[in-house]
Amino acid sequence: MKNKSLFTLAIVIAIMAGMVACKSSKKQEMVTSEAFGTFNGKEVFLYTLTNKKGDVIKLTNYGASIAEVSVPDRNGVRGNVTFGYDNLAGYKSGDLYFGKIVGRFANRIAKGKFTLDGIEYTLSLNNGANSLHGGNTGWHSRVWDAQILTKTDYPAIKFKYFSPDMEEGYPGNVTAEVVYTWTDDDEIIMDYKVTTDKNTVLNITNHAYFNLHGAGTGDILDHEVVIKASAFTPVDSTLIPTGEIRPVEGTPFDFRSPHKIGERINNPDIQLVLGKGYDHNFVLDNAEEVDASVYDPLTGRQLEVLTDQPGIQLYTGNFLDGTQKGRGGKIYVYRSGFCLETQHYPDSPNQATFPSTVLTPDEPFISSTTYRFSVKK
Ligand code: GLA
Repeated sequence: MKNKSLFTLAIVIAIMAGMVACKSSKKQEMVTSEAFGTFNGKEVFLYTLTNKKGDVIKLTNYGASIAEVSVPDRNGVRGNVTFGYDNLAGYKSGDLYFGKIVGRFANRIAKGKFTLDGIEYTLSLNNGANSLHGGNTGWHSRVWDAQILTKTDYPAIKFKYFSPDMEEGYPGNVTAEVVYTWTDDDEIIMDYKVTTDKNTVLNITNHAYFNLHGAGTGDILDHEVVIKASAFTPVDSTLIPTGEIRPVEGTPFDFRSPHKIGERINNPDIQLVLGKGYDHNFVLDNAEEVDASVYDPLTGRQLEVLTDQPGIQLYTGNFLDGTQKGRGGKIYVYRSGFCLETQHYPDSPNQATFPSTVLTPDEPFISSTTYRFSVKK
């Protein structure tokens, strides 16, 4: 009798062990990796994450980037809707931040200077008189450590980067982590955690460009945008915020109800002239679950953006000029992609009235942004 129950127990344990093994090997199949070259002695990989629907995203640890998002249109036909390059050479030479994580400070810092705790810091100037997106060798151009996560419900990868004290002029030894999770509901969840050993400033975002018709298939002027923002931050001629928080009411920046990107983009509004189109930070109401959405009437594809960040930059690819050759040899022409970069407001270290971007050793920066893809019939 005793032997029989021991035998039964052994069988139950064997079945459970089998189930665990099966589950983890299935998990492995959901994330595959291939060599993508080396940079500064570090190996770069291209990762493919497949969810239960069979929809796919590709990521690379170069710049912790989103390289491809392959999701269905209303007829179930999959297409890649984000900008990327075929190879590492493209990523290294491309300077338009396709799909990359941008840090330490996304967007602009006026004249590349800020003062923190009475000390003035000087950054490299890579955008006229200003510093943009963390400087010349910001986090977008670094090889991040990668770890495929196996104890998760969905395919997921953690990217980690250590940024030494005074890198690109910023104080503090900083460790940044971004976990990408690709859910069965076609959501890319980006969970950020950043720590420092000294007071510093931080503004981190993902700079993916999207074209819901399919990347490299013409402009995005017919895409319909909603941004749950009652105000935006107007800029000067170098795209630095003036400090004003201006209501969107009665302006071409009012996207609280849907408007096509092209509907008002060429209005003689001075802000649109300065931005060469939309290239502005919106002050999110943060009141509802979805902070912004873009719908493509042609394919039925929709992108929803959810974030806990106070702002979002709508950038309509005004600097794209067709010289970038993307995945599959696709050419990205003027205004053929839009970005919705979740962020703190630009130039916050120099703007006392904006929410603070100071990161201190006693409190890590924890934040989450989701890109959710779906179709409207
Ligand atoms: C951001 C900026 C734009 C431009 C792009 C990259 O979105 O706001 O002005 O620099 O990055 O080309």
